[in-house]
Parts: sequence; structure tokens; C-alpha cells
Amino acid sequence: METTVQATAHTQLLAVIGHPIAHSKSPQMHQAALNAQQLPLTYLAFDVWPEELQEAVSGLRALRVRGWNVTIPHKVAIIPFLDAIDEDAREIGAVNTVVNDGGRLIGYNTDGAGYLASLREETGITLREQRVLILGAGGAARAIAYVLARAGVPHIVVANRTASRARELASFVAQWTETSALALEEVAACTSDRTLIVNTTSVGMAPHTDATPLDPRLIPAGSVVSDLIYNPAKTLLLQEAEKRGCTIHNGLGMFIRQGALAYEKWTGKPAPLDVMRSAASS
Ligand code: ATR
Repeated sequence: METTVQATAHTQLLAVIGHPIAHSKSPQMHQAALNAQQLPLTYLAFDVWPEELQEAVSGLRALRVRGWNVTIPHKVAIIPFLDAIDEDAREIGAVNTVVNDGGRLIGYNTDGAGYLASLREETGITLREQRVLILGAGGAARAIAYVLARAGVPHIVVANRTASRARELASFVAQWTETSALALEEVAACTSDRTLIVNTTSVGMAPHTDATPLDPRLIPAGSVVSDLIYNPAKTLLLQEAEKRGCTIHNGLGMFIRQGALAYEKWTGKPAPLDVMRSAASS
């Protein structure tokens, strides 16, 4: 049975900031972990409006909040208000985790590393052999493309509705791997030799669950198909991939792993992954 730790004058605060924030499962996931480890920390969600972000960061700093997660739409905008940014966050251009290190605010990005850990754990994939197709070229795609390229995948195609953004992302990761870019509507030209397909767009997310970002007939049989969406747990893209004998991977593991990596930075303790998984899934 879960026991909560009684708040005292020594209890420290953790948080997530975003707008909107009501849908976030981070508070229940982190609080369950903190309770399981009997740590004197409380994790709350704050709805921070974009025009008040700087004030919010000043307030979190003044209150000596130990750390916080950052979600949409603040992941890029928060960077100028921090004191230091680690290498991954700087390259990805977005921060999802802040650590308050004795008054110094340090920004990290655990989304990319969380994604990789989850993909490896759930699919057993060997990244050095993958020819990758990334659907989408927004913030999430940038984090995924960056970690995959740095992990040694030999080729990445970026396909996006707005082709110019696909080209921009492909040229960014070209410093680590071979890349090409195309418009989503031209994607049929490049799917047949792909071994890993990653959907980073919101197409297929609840409530519009009857849409796919890719014509299912283009999914190569036997490939690994990964969708960052976790609501629904099995998007139409993943259902169609499964029918074609593909290994499928959804976004829940990434959510848990990015949270676990943040938790470890704040607490210095290994995150209780099972506790976090069951809290995030309920
Ligand atoms: P995130 O940080 O979640 O990646 P984002 O930066 O707004 O969010 O990026 C959203 C991605 O989903 C983009 O690649 C977007 O395509 P555009 O660059 O053309 O806007 C893609 N996307 C969103 N809705 C889409 C749709 N209905 N069809 C195809 N792509 C879509």
C-alpha cells in the first residue's frame, strides 16, 4: 500500500509547468515514485501562461523549488531564463527538465534519452542497423532525430507536411548521419527500405483516432513502428503495423523514461520504474 510522506517545513517542491496542464500525468507518476521511496518532496502542476513564463521562473527560483519539468509551450521559451543548458538540451534546442542546483538553474532535455531507453528496452532494436523514417519535423522530431543520429543509425529520412521544416531538420542531423528530406505527400518514394518508422506528429491522437500520418499500405512488413502518441495506447498506425507483422512501440515508455531521468537528477536516486509505469498507466 502506498504511504504518503507527511509535509513538514523541510518538504521540498518539484513541479511541472505548461499551458494547458490539466491533462498531465506527471504529478501522479512522480508523486507515486516519491511516496514509494519515502522522499520528503511534493510534485505539483502549475498552469503557466506564456506571457508569464519569466515571472513564473523567477518565482520558482525565489521559492528554491528543487526542480521542474517543462512542457508545451515553454520548452524553447524557457531557455533564456536559465543559468546553464546541458549539451543535449542545447543541441535539441529545448528543455524539459530544470534542476535548481543551489540557486543555479540548469536545463536538461531527457525526452531524447528517454525515448532511446524505451525503444531499446521494448523492441530490442540494434540502432546501428536501422534505416529510419521520421514523420514530422517539430520539436519532438528534433529530439528523436538527434538521439538516433548520435546513437549511430546509418540513415534518416525526415518527411513532413511542410517540406522546408523537413529539410531544416535533415540538415541539422546531417552532421552525424546520412539524411534526406521530403514532403509527407511524397513519402511513398522512400518507405520500402525503411526498418524503423517513427511518428512524431499528432496525427492519430485522441480524439481523432481514425487518422494515420502514413498510408498503412506503405508500412514495410517486419519493420519497427514507433509512435510517440500514448493516448490511445495503440494508434491506428500501430494497429495497421501490427497487422503487417511489425514490432510496435508507443509513447508511454518515452513518457515514463523521460520522467525517470528527471527524477534521478532531482533526487540522486534510481527511479522506481515499475511504480512510475503503473501510476502513469492508471
Ligand atoms: P511537437 O513539439 O509535438 O513536435 P510541433 O513542433 O508543433 O510539436 O510539431 C508538430 C509536428 O506535427 C509538425 O511536424 C507538424 O507538421 P508541420 O510542420 O507541417 O506543421 C506535424 N503535424 C501536425 N498536424 C499534422 C497533420 N494534420 N498532418 C500532418 N502533419 C501534422
